[in-house]
Amino acid sequence: MSFQFPESFLWGGAIAANQVEGAYLSDGKGLSTSDVQPKGAHGELVDRKAGDYNIKDTAIDFYHRYPEDIALFAEMGFTCLRLSIAWSRIYPNGDDLEPNEAGLAYYDRIFNELEKHDITPLVTLSHYEMPLNLAKQYQGWASRDVIECFTRYAKTVFERYGHRVKRWLTFNEINVTLHEPFTGSGLPRDCTEQTRFQAIHHQLVASAKAVKLCHDIIPDAKIGNMILGAMLYPLTCHPSDMVKTLMQNREWLMFGDIQARGYYPSYMTRKFRDMGVELNITPEDEEALKETIDFISFSYYMTGCASADPKQADNADANMLQMIANPYLKASEWGWQIDPVGLRYLLNFLYDRYQKPLFIVENGLGAKDVPNESGEIIDDYRITYLNDHLYQVGEAIQDGVEVMGYTSWGPIDLVSASTAQLSKRYGFIYVDRDDNGEGSLARSRKKSFYWYQDIIQSRGATLAAPDQGQS
Ligand code: BG6
Repeated sequence: MSFQFPESFLWGGAIAANQVEGAYLSDGKGLSTSDVQPKGAHGELVDRKAGDYNIKDTAIDFYHRYPEDIALFAEMGFTCLRLSIAWSRIYPNGDDLEPNEAGLAYYDRIFNELEKHDITPLVTLSHYEMPLNLAKQYQGWASRDVIECFTRYAKTVFERYGHRVKRWLTFNEINVTLHEPFTGSGLPRDCTEQTRFQAIHHQLVASAKAVKLCHDIIPDAKIGNMILGAMLYPLTCHPSDMVKTLMQNREWLMFGDIQARGYYPSYMTRKFRDMGVELNITPEDEEALKETIDFISFSYYMTGCASADPKQADNADANMLQMIANPYLKASEWGWQIDPVGLRYLLNFLYDRYQKPLFIVENGLGAKDVPNESGEIIDDYRITYLNDHLYQVGEAIQDGVEVMGYTSWGPIDLVSASTAQLSKRYGFIYVDRDDNGEGSLARSRKKSFYWYQDIIQSRGATLAAPDQGQS
């Protein structure tokens, strides 16, 4: 690609506290909703008992090994690291009135380290976890009281880190409550639609309040939302498939529409009526929602199809959800359909819709990596995946889309959110640990490490034109 990405474009990777840190009870941390999901978001919930096992209890021990890991990110040339703060490190029970100083001090150390390497932090306030106590005592986000708990937490971290953290996101994949209500909102899986949408409403209000706090406390910061970008194509060009696709895409677009425009879109009136959902929206909520985000961020792993034909069943796994498989696409080992061109499409689509800057904050390939006889990981499949997606980001920029940056998911192997496997590896950096927790936790560079280093260094000029399939 002769095209170079803009100099201001941020390059890096994305991680989440509960998938890397471990140290699940250290320095006063409280239990989080992730701590009771030892098999990941798709698995059962457990009560924690002394001595029981959850791979995330240690994860990849980023809590202690962050200097080494951040140095490796710097070696690749990262200018940005997306990470999340574990809410339960700062407010162990969620409803505490005073924060836990040891938890705050931990993230001071992380930001010191990032500063040392000139890496811009992009911080998610809540990535698939909340203090467990809030789920147990308050029914998670079903309770309006949780808005206040969250804004207290947001205010604390904005005040503490605002002088050095200028890029923020509110909730990771805020639309996930539609598919995994416990992971998204601390709600039971069998909650009613009424409860689910009221919880989502509370979360949207909390998000908007955090945006306002951020604007007031850190006027030179930018804060965005974060959506699981689950774009659907019509399975056929039948007009009924078109309408079905429009309706299904609105399920996730609703979130960005509210966060970017400041009010519920009119199409939700009919949807709520059809579902029999009546939201309690106060005048204060309406006022709060008016504070809109500065940019849109999203994760992108796959696309799928929608069909009005009831005989077409969802037959493709797609992150936290299921979709109808696209016959033109291949899938990853976990059945997620790979669609680099869809990323160009989505970037253009979202920019047309919102006219706000976009940030791709997750994209990557989960794959089983097997070291060769010399112990090296030759992960050409990952290089191809990332190359082809980044190529399309370049195309979208040339289409006129304002793209702030790209943080690949899991620049270092980490615990999978959906299945809690470590063998589902995304990293440029290999971590010696298996699904049973065996291994030295030693880090080593994969072939993709050097590839990404080169791409960042050339600002995308060394990306290869996709040579087969989609272009
Ligand atoms: C996104 C999440 O849904 O996808 C991450 O924000 C997650 O937390 C990533 O890890 C990949 O999913 P998985 O299930 O392969 O870890």
